[in-house]
Amino acid sequence: MKKYWCFFIAIWFVTTHLFCNIDQLAQEAATQGYHQEFIGLVEMIYGKGFLSQGGEDSIDQMFEGVDLDGCALLDIGSGLGLPLIYTAKNYEVRAVGIEAQKWMVERANRNLQNASEELKGTVDFLNANNLRQFSDQTFDVVMSKEALLHIPLEIKEQFFKEICRVLKPGSQIVILDWMHSRPNYTSKTKRMMEIDEVAYNLISPAEYEEVLSKVGFSDVRINDITSQYAKLSEESKNKIISLKSAIQSIPNGIQKSDFRRRQSTAIRRS
Ligand SMILES: C[S@@+](CC[C@H](N)C(=O)[O-])C[C@H]1O[C@@H](n2cnc3c(N)ncnc32)[C@H](O)[C@@H]1O
Repeated sequence: MKKYWCFFIAIWFVTTHLFCNIDQLAQEAATQGYHQEFIGLVEMIYGKGFLSQGGEDSIDQMFEGVDLDGCALLDIGSGLGLPLIYTAKNYEVRAVGIEAQKWMVERANRNLQNASEELKGTVDFLNANNLRQFSDQTFDVVMSKEALLHIPLEIKEQFFKEICRVLKPGSQIVILDWMHSRPNYTSKTKRMMEIDEVAYNLISPAEYEEVLSKVGFSDVRINDITSQYAKLSEESKNKIISLKSAIQSIPNGIQKSDFRRRQSTAIRRS
């Protein structure tokens, strides 16, 4: 009996320790580079409540051919909430967004309150960096827009396994994400990552396909929208330049040197 307990405690310790490490890695990667004082700038360029390019059009594009009415939908890395809020304006979804940063969840809830009268579906934003709180087969659709690139390489497979676990059989995952096209980053890409300071843990389309298939997904389709994003980046660059004085006057925000830094990031991306 005593032996049995020792064994049990050892397992408990190992699993807890493992989760702590995984959570810590995910949390560090999620929060790196997303500073509150820059969010005003990001929203000026990408649109209110969006932390990624493309606005509402890109959400429409993600869900082309997917009927979301009546679905339980999970958004991983829901940020300031607009991708999910916009989706709940268009579909009768029961949506949940998880976001690793507490202050972003608070902002998302404020955005949700402001949109409450326009919603067809329901939305809940939760502060979490993993899916452990969800039971097996909870969701009909999982979406994620430009967030999974932050998941550290060493826990990617585990994270996708979790996504598979919380999805019902026969359901779908719709991801818009950054991938790399060469095994080694070019010096320009490395420089961009350095300046951006966010955690870019990119994998290639082939690696994406491999990991998704390995954890149990089938019928993986990849749509390369690089040229469309190059155009969006060009537009973002022009917007930054045209808003230069407004950006410089953000209270407690962007100093001249920051502006030059951010501007050069946008230029490099295009
Ligand atoms: C580029 S932003 C995109 C936010 C939102 N999807 C959008 O398009 O506006 C990426 C977000 O993913 C969040 N994130 C990264 N890793 C996460 C994780 N493991 N769990 C929850 N959120 C995460 C970051 O905190 C950040 O808010």
